[in-house]
Amino acid sequence: MKANAPTLFSNIKVATRVIEYAASKSSVLPEPLLKYHAQILELERANLTISTYQAQALSFLAQVAGARRVLEIGVFRGFSSMVWSHAVGPQGKVTGLEFLPEYAEAARKGFEQVGVTNAEVIVGDAIETLDALDPDEPYDLIFIDAQKSGYPTYLETILRKSTPGADRRLLRPGGLIVADNVLRRGLVADESSDNPEAAKEAALISEGGSYRTDKDLDALRQFNTALAEEKRIDTWLMPLYDGVGLGRLLD
Ligand SMILES: C[S@@+](CC[C@H](N)C(=O)[O-])C[C@H]1O[C@@H](n2cnc3c(N)ncnc32)[C@H](O)[C@@H]1O
Repeated sequence: MKANAPTLFSNIKVATRVIEYAASKSSVLPEPLLKYHAQILELERANLTISTYQAQALSFLAQVAGARRVLEIGVFRGFSSMVWSHAVGPQGKVTGLEFLPEYAEAARKGFEQVGVTNAEVIVGDAIETLDALDPDEPYDLIFIDAQKSGYPTYLETILRKSTPGADRRLLRPGGLIVADNVLRRGLVADESSDNPEAAKEAALISEGGSYRTDKDLDALRQFNTALAEEKRIDTWLMPLYDGVGLGRLLD
């Protein structure tokens, strides 16, 4: 039998070089976006944003899906919104939901800086703002990247507000759900002492405020199970980056 878990690289140095090579052989992101990403990396909580290599993957995915309308839950300083904006093109539209007004404002300034004109940010708790959304046209892709404890509720809301046959709905039939960090450094699948990340988690939780809690791993497990078991969704959990859950709405 072919192994499901081949050792891809022999150590982190090799892995880093291989990923750098892979990134250099993947379609390049526009220069203003790369500049903006570099700027964010100099600011506080820089690790919240996706990497440029993940951005290349998400942009590719959105284009394969023919996405024109993207909803993003968790905007931070707007880098991933800019990536979706690039992927959907000038005729497309990106709507972001962000809890903190200061990040929403930073994102809007960022959009101006890089010339993004088709992205907007709605400020508020996405548990409420998602529930209140009533778009004229359904989204083609919904990116979930806010607080992990909210993931099960976000999924439940998306499904409830995307009733088969309904005129107005959140996600179109065939639309994609893309959820970031669903493996949390592998801990969602392996919290044992074999995983060196287990020892770091408690310290990260105490620094993380409300964004990172000791309930997060259970919430992510609940989300992954719900996505996998939902009859209306075809799913693939991709163990790249911090784990990306992919679901396609079938109805
Ligand atoms: C991981 S960051 C998003 C990173 C962004 N997608 C990127 O790649 O650049 C998560 C963001 O979600 C926001 N957030 C956390 N809880 C939220 C909530 N309940 N509603 C809306 N946004 C929330 C945080 O303020 C933070 O800006």
